[in-house]
Amino acid sequence: MDPIDNPFAPGAGTPPPELAGRDGVLEQARILLGRIKRKRPEKSLIITGLRGVGKTVLAGEINRMAREDDYQTVFVEASENKALANLIYHPLRQLLFELNRLANIGQKVRRALAVLRSFIGSLKITAGDFTIGLDIEPATGTADSGDIEADIPALFIAIAEAAEEHSTAIALIIDEIQYLTSRELGALIMAMHQMQQRQLPLALIATGLPIMPGLAGKSKTYSERLFNFPNVGALTEDDVFRALQEPMRAVGMAFSDDAMREISQLTQGYPYFVQEWGYQAWNRADTSPITLDVIHEITQEVGKRLDTNFFRVRFDRLSNTEKTFLRAMAGLPPPRRTGQIAKAMKTTLNGSTTLRANLIRKGMIYSPRYGELAFSVPLFDNFMLRTMQGLTNG
Ligand SMILES: Nc1ncnc2c1ncn2[C@@H]1O[C@H](COP(=O)(O)OP(=O)(O)OP(=O)(O)O)[C@@H](O)[C@H]1O
Ligand SMILES: [Mg+2]
Repeated sequence: MDPIDNPFAPGAGTPPPELAGRDGVLEQARILLGRIKRKRPEKSLIITGLRGVGKTVLAGEINRMAREDDYQTVFVEASENKALANLIYHPLRQLLFELNRLANIGQKVRRALAVLRSFIGSLKITAGDFTIGLDIEPATGTADSGDIEADIPALFIAIAEAAEEHSTAIALIIDEIQYLTSRELGALIMAMHQMQQRQLPLALIATGLPIMPGLAGKSKTYSERLFNFPNVGALTEDDVFRALQEPMRAVGMAFSDDAMREISQLTQGYPYFVQEWGYQAWNRADTSPITLDVIHEITQEVGKRLDTNFFRVRFDRLSNTEKTFLRAMAGLPPPRRTGQIAKAMKTTLNGSTTLRANLIRKGMIYSPRYGELAFSVPLFDNFMLRTMQGLTNG
C-alpha cells in the first residue's frame, strides 16, 4: 500500500496514530493539572519506563493538555552535558515575556524577571545575549547565591507568583529527568516542596528511566510525599490490537486477528516495536486486511531494521569494556545478579562498580532490585545474543 499514506509512526517522540493503553496515566495528569490550577495540593508526576515505551510521547501529550487548559508550559529535555540552569533559563524568560504580553506588566512579573536576571548572573553559564528587559535590574540577594538548592526554589517562587498574578498556571515538563545531577534533582524537589506549601500554581511533570524513584528518594527522603511515579511499560494484547487496528479503521482498512496476535507476540507489546511492525506491514501489503503471511514476510527485515536503527545506535555509543559487560550480562539468564556478571567477566564486584554506574547513567541498564541488573532497552538481550552469535559464526 502507498507508503505516503502509512499511518504508523516508528521514531523518537513521534506521536503514534493511536495512543493505546495510557488512559490511567493521562487521567493522573488531568487531575494534577486541574488541581494545581485551582490551587489545591497535588503530587507532581514523574512518569518512568524503559526506552521506547512512549515517555516522550506522553510528555508531549500532557504538554498539549496543559496548553488546552490555559497553562503556560515549558517543555525541556535534560541531557548528560547540560546544566539545569542552562536548560530552563531561556524558556522561563520567554514565558515571562509571554505573561507580560498577555496583560500589562505586573509587579510580580517584573520581580520574576529581576529574580531570573539575578539567578543567571550568579551562575557562570553562557546565556548568549542576555538583555532581559531594558529597565530590569537584578533582584540582588534572591536566587543568586550560586547554590542551586537555594536558588531554584527562590526562582520558582518568583515565577509562580508572577503566573498567579496573571491568573494563570505553569506546567514545567522535563523529559529524560534522570540526567539531572543529584543536586539539581534535590533543588527541584525542594522547589516543588515550596510550591506545595505556598499553594503556588506550578506543576512539574517529568519522565525518566525506572531508576528515578530511587534517585529522588536518595536525594530527598521526603520526595515520595511530593511525587507520584507511575510506570509505563509494554502494552497488553488488547492495547496492541487497538494500536494497530484503530489507525487502519480510520482509513477503512484492517489487520486480520492472527496478524495482530503475531505482532503482539513478536513485540512483547513494546510500543516502539509495534509501530515498526505496523509500518513495515503496511508498506509490504497489497490489500486489506493485512494477513499473517505478510507479517511472516516482513519479520526478518524488521528485525534487521531494529538491529541497525534501534539497538545498534545505542550499542555503538559504548566503550569496549562496557560492551563486554553487556555481553556477559546477556549470556546469563534473568534475574541477573551483579556478582554473577562480575564473575562472568572475570573481575570482582568492586572492579565492575564504575562500569555498572556508567552503564546505568547511560540508560542501558538499571537495577530493578538490590544486587540485580536488567536491560533498560526492551529485548536488548536478544539483540546481544544475535550479534554475539554473528561474531562466533564469523
Ligand atoms: N501508547 C502507545 N501506543 C502505540 N504506540 C506508541 C505508544 N506510545 C508510544 N508509541 C510509539 O513508540 C515509539 C517510541 O515513543 P517515545 O519516543 O515516546 O518513547 P520513549 O519512552 O520516550 O523512548 P526513549 O526512552 O528512547 O526516549 C514512537 O514511535 C511512538 O509513536
Ligand atoms: Mg524519549
